[in-house]
Amino acid sequence: MCGIVGYVGKRTAQNVLLNGLKRLEYRGYDSAGIATLDDNNRPHIARSIGKIAELENVLLTKPHDGHLGIGHTRWATHGGVTVTNAHPHHVGNIYLVHNGIIENYKELKEKLSKYNFQSDTDTEVFAALIDSNYKDGISLKDAVAKAAKQVRGTYGIAVFSPNEPNTLIVARLGSPLIIGLGQNETIIASDASALLGYTREAIYLNDGELAVCTDKGAEVFNLNLKHLNANHETIDGNVEQIQKGGYQHFLLKEIMEQATTLHNTLSGRIDPKLGKMHLGGPNLTEEEMRNIKHIVIVGCGTAYYAGLLASYYMEQLVPDLTIEVVIASEYRYRSFHLPKDSVALIVSQSGETADTLACLREIKKRGIKTLGIVNVVGSTIAREVDGGTYVHAGPEISVASTKAFTAQVVTMVMFAGMLAEYHSGNAELISKITKELSELPKEIETTLKKHHDEVKALAKKYAKYNDALYLGRDTAYPIALEGALKLKEISYIHAEGYASGELKHGPIALVDETFFEVFSIIDNWLFDKSIGGLHEVRARGGKTIVLTNSDAEIDADDIIRINSKIKILAPLLLNTLQQLFAYYIAVDRGNDVDQPRNLAKSVTVE
Ligand code: AGP
Repeated sequence: MCGIVGYVGKRTAQNVLLNGLKRLEYRGYDSAGIATLDDNNRPHIARSIGKIAELENVLLTKPHDGHLGIGHTRWATHGGVTVTNAHPHHVGNIYLVHNGIIENYKELKEKLSKYNFQSDTDTEVFAALIDSNYKDGISLKDAVAKAAKQVRGTYGIAVFSPNEPNTLIVARLGSPLIIGLGQNETIIASDASALLGYTREAIYLNDGELAVCTDKGAEVFNLNLKHLNANHETIDGNVEQIQKGGYQHFLLKEIMEQATTLHNTLSGRIDPKLGKMHLGGPNLTEEEMRNIKHIVIVGCGTAYYAGLLASYYMEQLVPDLTIEVVIASEYRYRSFHLPKDSVALIVSQSGETADTLACLREIKKRGIKTLGIVNVVGSTIAREVDGGTYVHAGPEISVASTKAFTAQVVTMVMFAGMLAEYHSGNAELISKITKELSELPKEIETTLKKHHDEVKALAKKYAKYNDALYLGRDTAYPIALEGALKLKEISYIHAEGYASGELKHGPIALVDETFFEVFSIIDNWLFDKSIGGLHEVRARGGKTIVLTNSDAEIDADDIIRINSKIKILAPLLLNTLQQLFAYYIAVDRGNDVDQPRNLAKSVTVE
């Protein structure tokens, strides 16, 4: 969602901020702006709605070379998409950018009635609150700390005032802020990708902390202004990883690089010869591993579907486990009870999803161990879980999640494989799956290359349809849900995923020649039943596409057959083809593939 950058140092702030905002574009936004202080201590604000390119156009007419500033990409929550509502907000002596939501902004606004508010935003109220505290000789740091204690809600903020021209104040509560420490420069951002190429040394601010940043570095305090010794950490990743690398879109790059990223997910974690899987991060003793009887998997969207698919494998690998997979936005408000011998897997690409984070906190309150299955290193979820494993998919820039899904499923399967050693696990299956995991990167690469043109042609054929059903049984069912999500997200075609056994319970009423149906059919003991569903749809005039690893005769409008030695994990291969299919349909329809309308990469508000 919204993104923040800030800079103080030797470079021209305007350039650093623009560059940073471009790096944050992928998070999803509808307006953007920057505020800088020039070398004569005069503030300048530029804001625009739409893409960063619009902001760049505005700035072309007013370039200047100040060395301090803040920038923001806004995803509207309070108030429409207008220039006035865009950040930075300026009130009195305060310039502020803000991520998050101030829940008590209405009551604060009433108390601050002496200000002539211009926008509909909670952020402008926050700025006024800081300004109202910034008097009687108190410092900007103290004024921000005081205001931070007066607001209710979540925030990541960056603030400056012309009165203290070499200082940026940042603070966080529930919205990430990272302080990059360079040589005579400090760059702050809500996302580490904006810091890449400037510095690798960083402080990840914790909730309830604020920092005073200058070109000499940063000092961290709590809101009672007690000085804290902050950990200096190393930022993961490099600039190449956040570039398109010759592809037309990040999405295509991220689909096509799955062989490489999966190799990183698996590296050092499986031994196909011994049939063993091992993850370093769960932080559980042998006794704790033995005692686990119940697993709850929590996630949103694609992360939820990854959990659902993983659960099918996990319950086969460790037969004495009970597994529950839950949608975070629902679970957080349920009166749920978890047995003491439970472990929660918290699945999130970004590690910042508000609902997932709220669930994590609810589960921790109940004394249950939480393990993160997270991609973004240093993210809030990764920091708050008791243990966990990074999925190592590398930066995922396109809003639609692809490579992270594959990495999440594989990581949870490895967790189950490891757990199985402490339970009466299914040894034969563990050995087979370990072998398949070792072969999976190569097989994904081959599948994507071999069927690329075929999928592209298929996408062209179906790009004009407005409705689709995705169907599958058993491990192909979560794949059906994920396939439908991918298609609707980026192509805007109405698509629904169903377990094919559910067809007769309702969705078959929709089937006619205006719909197309994608069947993922796995060559296993349910094959005949899956074919039954396909026949029912064909009998009613539905246009059918089958993705399968079977070589049996199948009657459908279009079939893509993968010929792979991967059997148990075949749904992951079929899913990569669904990703490609959705991608090419979106391209054909002329959509903004990497930043689809209304969506944000990390959903940091409810
Ligand atoms: C995936 O394509 C979506 N954009 C979305 O469903 C996403 O998976 C969901 O918001 C969860 O995000 P997270 O993995 O960062 O927590």
